[in-house]
This record gives sequence, C-alpha cells and structure tokens, in this order.
Amino acid sequence: MIWSGEFHPFRLPSPDLWRDVLQKMKASGFNAVSLYFDWGYHTSKQGQYDFAGIRDIDRVLDMAAEEGLYVITRAGPYVNAELSRGGFPGWLVNQKAKARTDDPEYLAAADEWLSRVNKSIARHQLDNGGGTVILHQIENELGATGPTQQRYMRHLYEEARADGITVPIFHNDAGRHGRWVPASSQVPGTIEGPNDLYAFDGYPGGVCTIHNKLSKGTPAPDWGLYGPGGADGGASASPHTPGFAAEFGGGWFDYWGSNGMYPCNAVQRGLGYQRVFYGTNIANGISIENFYMTYGGTSWGWLPAPVVYTSYDYGAAIDEARNLRPKALELKQLGEFVQAVPDLARLEKARPVSISSSRVQVYHDRNPDTDARLLFVVHKPSNETTDDHFTITADLPDGHYAFPMELKGQDAKLLLAGVNLERQRLVYSTSELQTVLRHSDEDIALLYGRAGERGETVLRYQNEPRVTVLAGVVRFRWDSHRQDLHLNYIHGGLVRVRIDGGGRAPLLLLIGDTAEAQRFFRQGEALDRGPWLVRHAFVSGDKLVMTGDTKSGGEPLEVWAPACVRSVTWNGMPVAMTRSPSGSLVADLPLPGPHLVTLPDLTRATWRYHAGSPEAQPAFDDSGWIKTAGAPDHSTIRPPTGQPTLQMDAYGFHDGDVWYRGRFAGGADARHIALHYGGGGGGMLQLWLDGEFVGEDELPTGLARPITVGMAEFDLPAAAQKPGEHVLSVMVRPDGHNWDLETDDAHKEPRGLISASLSHPGGESFAVPVAWRIQGRKGGEELIDIARGPLNNGGLYGERKGWSLSGFDDSDWKTARVPAAGSFAGTAWYRTRFTLDVPKDDDATIGIEFGDPKMPRSPGRYRVLLFVNGWNMGQFIANIGPQRVFPIPPGIIDNHGANTLALAVTSDGESGDALEAVRLVTMHHVRGGVPVAMVEAPARLDR
Ligand code: GAL
Repeated sequence: MIWSGEFHPFRLPSPDLWRDVLQKMKASGFNAVSLYFDWGYHTSKQGQYDFAGIRDIDRVLDMAAEEGLYVITRAGPYVNAELSRGGFPGWLVNQKAKARTDDPEYLAAADEWLSRVNKSIARHQLDNGGGTVILHQIENELGATGPTQQRYMRHLYEEARADGITVPIFHNDAGRHGRWVPASSQVPGTIEGPNDLYAFDGYPGGVCTIHNKLSKGTPAPDWGLYGPGGADGGASASPHTPGFAAEFGGGWFDYWGSNGMYPCNAVQRGLGYQRVFYGTNIANGISIENFYMTYGGTSWGWLPAPVVYTSYDYGAAIDEARNLRPKALELKQLGEFVQAVPDLARLEKARPVSISSSRVQVYHDRNPDTDARLLFVVHKPSNETTDDHFTITADLPDGHYAFPMELKGQDAKLLLAGVNLERQRLVYSTSELQTVLRHSDEDIALLYGRAGERGETVLRYQNEPRVTVLAGVVRFRWDSHRQDLHLNYIHGGLVRVRIDGGGRAPLLLLIGDTAEAQRFFRQGEALDRGPWLVRHAFVSGDKLVMTGDTKSGGEPLEVWAPACVRSVTWNGMPVAMTRSPSGSLVADLPLPGPHLVTLPDLTRATWRYHAGSPEAQPAFDDSGWIKTAGAPDHSTIRPPTGQPTLQMDAYGFHDGDVWYRGRFAGGADARHIALHYGGGGGGMLQLWLDGEFVGEDELPTGLARPITVGMAEFDLPAAAQKPGEHVLSVMVRPDGHNWDLETDDAHKEPRGLISASLSHPGGESFAVPVAWRIQGRKGGEELIDIARGPLNNGGLYGERKGWSLSGFDDSDWKTARVPAAGSFAGTAWYRTRFTLDVPKDDDATIGIEFGDPKMPRSPGRYRVLLFVNGWNMGQFIANIGPQRVFPIPPGIIDNHGANTLALAVTSDGESGDALEAVRLVTMHHVRGGVPVAMVEAPARLDR
C-alpha cells in the first residue's frame, strides 16, 4: 500500500527543514510523500526560470529518497492548492489564450515549465532514475472534459513521456465523476483520458461550526468495494487499476475573517476521524491513499489565493510550527499497520460476518492470494457515537469463531484474522496490530487497544507453547483441539508476553493501550519506545545510531535492535543501556530534555520608524512610472469602453501592492469618485487627493469564498473643484489572484484599479478625464531579489527602497515604541533588531505575535506586512483576523543570532488604529531537530 502525506516545499522556504518534515512523516508511519510544484514560484517573466535555493526541486526529491519515502509528483501546470492563480505564474494572466486548453499560446507557456520540471522529476524516478518517484500527476481536478481539454490532457501526457517521465501517470478527479480514466476502464459514463491510473479526491466528514465546535459530520463514504459502483463510485470508475485517493482530507483550509478554525479542524479531522474514514478507505480496497495536508506550512509572501490567509496550517498532522499533533500519533499506528501487512494491498469482499448489535457493522475483506482477513469494525452509520458491546461471529481461515468486542463512539478497529505475521500465525485478535518485526531469532508484534477495553489474541501453534508474562496481567488458555493459544487481557499500560516453543520462532508480544503503543516508533530494523520523536535508528557496526527529539525532561528510551548491537547513541551522545527481561536495551537515565529558551521582549525594544507613502504627496516625482494607456487587457473584467486599462498585471505588476497617480483638471464635476478595483481576499484601497487622505475601502471578508472585487466610492474634498491640476494617489493591496478551479480563467480577474470614474452626482460617469500612471514592484517582471523570488515583494515605497531588508541603514529614522502611540494614514514602517539565543542542541519555532492572542481580531483597523530578515512572512490584518501569530522557520529567522524585523503598517490614521504590541513567542521547542543553515538572500538591494 502507498500511504502518503501531502507536503508543499514552497510553503516552507527553508530547505533544510524539508528534511525535518520528511523525517517526521516517515516516523509517523508514511511510506510516501506527495509534492505539488508551483509553476509561478519559479518564474517571474516568461522564459526565465529558477530552480535554486528555496526552489531546488532536485534537493527535495533527493531528501525524500534519502529518508526512504516514495514520492508522488504533481507539477500542474495547474495545481489549485489555495495558491494565487492556482500556481500559474503572474505573467500568464496576460495571455489571450484560455488556460487549461490546447490553445497553442497556453501550451507553449505550459511546456516551458513542464519540460524543465518534468526533466528534474525524471532524474529521481524509482524505475528509471536515481530516486523514489513512483507516480506522477498531470493537471489537477480538471472538470471540463470537452475536445479542447481532451487534446490538452493528451498533450500533457505526451509531454511528460517525452521529458522522460516513465512512472505511471494519473490525474485527480475532483469528487468522483469518473473523469480521465484509463482506456482499460470501459465503465459506462466515464470520460477516458490518456492516464495509466484513475485517482479521485475527497474531503468528507464535515468541518467545525463557525464557533469552532465539533460537528457530527457525515458517515464515512464507501468509495471502493462497498460503494455504489460505476463511474461515480470512486475506485469503481477504473476496475482494473488500484483504488487511488489522490487527496483525502487531512484537515481543511481557513479564510480571512474566520474565527480561526485550524485547531478545531485538526480535531474534527483528527483522532477517531482518521480511524473511521481512513479505515473505511482501507476496507474499501483503496490501496493508494494520500492525505492532504500532512504538513500545510505557510503561504508566505504573496503565495496565498484569496481563499486563505498566511497560515496554511490546515489542521494537519504536523502543525505549521512543525509540532506533531496528537493525530500524527494515531496516523503512525495506521501507517505502521498498513506497512506491516502486505496482504492489505489487495483486498476483495469476504463472506459477511454476524454481529450481535445493529449499531455496529463489520467490513470483512480477504486477500485473494493469501486469504488473510481484514475485519473493519465501525459504527453503523459510522459517525454514530454510542459505546457498544457486542459479539462478532465469523468464518475465518482458521475456523469458525465468536468473540466479544467493544467499540466506543468515533472509533473504528482494523482487525486481522488468519494472517501470517513474520513466523507467527494470528488466528484473530480483537486488538489492532501496530507493527511486527523480526528481532534476531524471535518475532516482535506490537498490538494495542483502547484503555480499559477487553482484548483477545489467538495464535496457532503445532503444540502447546510456553507463555511467560513479563509485565501486566494476561490470562492464557491452550485449546489443544484447535491448537490455539488464547490470550485475554484488559488494555492498560504495556503488557509484555513471551511465547516460546509450539513449533514456531519465539514471539515477544507487546500489548499497549493506545497511548502506550503510540510511544513506539518502528525505524528500520529497530523498534523504539519513549522519546517524543525518533528520526533515525540505524545499525552501524555494533552501534545503534539514533537521532530524534525530546520535548520534556524525563523521556525514557527502550530499543529492540538487531543482536549485533552493543551500544546506542542518541543525537551523537553515547547512552548507557541495560538489557531488560524483554530482550530490549533500556537507557539507565532518561534522555535529556530541551533547555530553557528566553526571548527578547519587543515591547521594550527600540524601534525605528518612518512614514512610507510619499506617493500620496502632490510633489512626488512619478515621471518614471508607467502611463496607463493602450496595454492589451485579457482580464475577465474590462473597464467600460473607451477607458484605459488600469489593472496592474497588464503593466507587469502581478503581486503585492500597487500605486496609481492620476492627474485631472479641477472643476465642478470633480465631486465624486468611484474606484472599481480587484483586491482578492480582504484586499483594500486607499485614496488621497493632493496629499490629503480621503479614505480607504476594504473588501468584505468573513466568507469562505470571498468577494474579490469591489467598488470604492468617495466624495472628494472641495479642493477638487478648484481649477488647476490635481493629483489623485491610490494604493491598492491585492491579496492574491483567484484560482482557476472552474476552468473559467478566474485567475485573470483583474487586480489593482479596474476603472475610475470622476463625476458629479447625477451627472455622466467618467465626466472628468484622469491621466493615470502606475507603479508596482521594483523591476516588475525583471526580478530584483532572485533568492526570495517573485512572490516576496510588491510595490510599497519602502520595499522599493530596501527598507524591508536587514542591511538597510535606518539610523537616521526616528525612534519609536511598539505598541505604537498613534497611527498614520497610509503605510508607516517600523524596524527593530533582536538577537535569539536558542541553544544549539535545540530546535524551536519562534513566532511573531500581534496584539491579544485570545481574540480572533482587534477593534483597531490596520494591517501589517511582516518582513523577517527581508522575507515577507505574511500579513496580519488586525480588524479581519484570525491569524495573529506567524511562525518563522529557522533558516529564515536566525535562532542563534541577530535578526531584523520590518513591519509595513497600513492604516487610515484614525486614533485606535495603531499597531498593537508585537511579541516573540515560542511555538515549538524540542531538544533535537535537524541541522539548519540560514537561507542565503541579499541583505540590501543589489540591483
Ligand atoms: C482540492 C485541490 C487542492 C486543494 C484542495 C483543498 O480540490 O486539488 O489543490 O485546493 O482541494 O485544499
């Protein structure tokens, strides 16, 4: 089985930490990782591509291979992924061609990307390269299936093959509609594609309520063996290829103005949910599962689409700060289980069993080659939450058996029967298997169940074996007629039983309650117990070399390692170990825990302050700005006939803030202005007349699908009616371009101004002509900051002058305190420096927090772009929320040195709309981690 987690390297701009995430995934039971690649992350201008530094695809593919994970690559060209433009580059919105079709203009652009990314991927294939790539996706949830898409998909397939991709190619069907199935399918109602495999996506189970309460959700759907079948039945759309869920909910994303759903969604789609839903998939014979997301990360800079804010935590198993959530420990049990039992990779329905309760159902499957059985025990319907006691009676490979069971609410059990586990024969067990391994001449099986529940494990022998209970309470009984050894116990703590003789290799049976079993890690040939995280455990000579993390002092270490192992090192230090009666090595002392981390107090720091919207002043020199006229406009909303194209993309400004200055002759008609603008999620606009602040407008938020364009209307000050030349200054903050989910070119919805009508109420619109100029990111499509790339900067004055960078000399700026005493209409910059001193042996994620963390948003209206050492690590919108804490990955922040924090604070200047307290907080802290180098990037403007 392929048990995969989704990870987006571009959402973690510190390449050394990719290894941290991959190791945490591997330790959490995954055998594969699925990677999206974001086309727009690699190109600022057509024809120019970058695959260095934080964009190094080869590096992440190498790391995955080194860490022993298979890779599923998903390179678009369209990926969706809550990315601005769904991953399309900024420049692509200027194409006349409809995207995701076979229009030659679009295909030529797509091929630029594909030929590069595919060739990289090809070098890392399992079958034909030096790596572990096993599957490759083309396109993403392409819902349109007309002739143009048919030709487009064929083209993508052929391009991949021409670029050297030899692994099976698939596409992920949005929902289960039988779109783009392989030719072998022949299921009525399906749409044939060029693909080798059919895969589908699904996010069932419900999300939390608006007030962050868990919802009962829906029962787990049957998208395979037990489903409705046919084109819409999931795996049934392609009966001759493996059941394949390319994306299955591992959480859900969150939107501007929500109440902060990630923690709740992590629970809604967490413990219990995973057993019920992922277990239902296994029982349905779905043998390739990928969970979206497993590490969500950060949509830093201008990566986010309008539907999300900076944090892409997703409520995933590994949180944004790189902590393992409790659900990761449950995933570890499921993942180790599917890897320990190869029989699960091919299942068919077996004969129904009988259950003494109508509130419970059992999916009974068998492997057609080995007859091994899976009994998936779950409520009926599966979202029921009663606690039930019942008896299952079944014809199993080793005979007819009846056994009592318990099942609590929101729980499910994946039981085995009639299966060979290493050299043992398991007749059945009402405990679940976590893992099994050979340990020298004996086998070790780790079973578990819910604390306080009864358990029974039945093993078969040729003659009566000898049972030694090493720890805990176990009753055992030999059934000489069937030659079955019955072990009965209550799950609680860790039971250890040794079974010798009986014509089999000795067996050490470890039976934990769920929490105890979750403290085990299976790493290669070793079984380890105790630490918060075991990253590696490999045998080198007579030594077991272990690395990992401890979260507290007092974590024990116990290992079952191959017989040759005489000593153990933990993070390079020898650990004194003593052999235990269970054949393990136990550390004499607990492992050392993390040190204390103390953080500087930024509310006491000296800050430097500078006003940053000189563009608003009438005398500002805009002679170098681009005149808005005549640019071809292929956006989806055009200005009224005869009006100039104002939208920013037409002028080569695709991301971040953009400024406009417009000159007009004052007069009686210049009374009112209507500014139609595109701003994405929570976007905004500010307007000045002759240097006087007129007002600001914010797009509505609090919607999962935000309104992304708006009309800002203002009555102009009387000065506008005075004769002579006047200057309008407009700043637009566009929070991302729309995705192209529906294949309707929504990513081409304009950003910045769309049109500007200066008029007299009751009079003609556009009555007063305005001559506009536009200014955006320095260099436009010509990238200035190559290391940080096309999505780091927009066109704020301070960004253009390098004020966000650590090498900028701010010594002649005024000093200030934060929280700020007052606010400023427009953008003002606050800069400070601080030094971190996280102990070298520790790994910590330090976050930057604004205001009161207990509140989803502030009464004050202002927003902040937050630059750490020049990296745009997100946007805090005080009045919209919900995100207040921004984790900064080591490598971007220096945990062992000096850092520069630059905040671009934009507000309307009203009292009460001032920057609140800014604090450093520890979001994750362990002793351990991986070595992390600072990501190289310029400290000052070098072009
Ligand atoms: C899927 C899509 C992903 C992502 C996900 C929701 O439909 O393929 O890219 O958008 O939904 O997070």
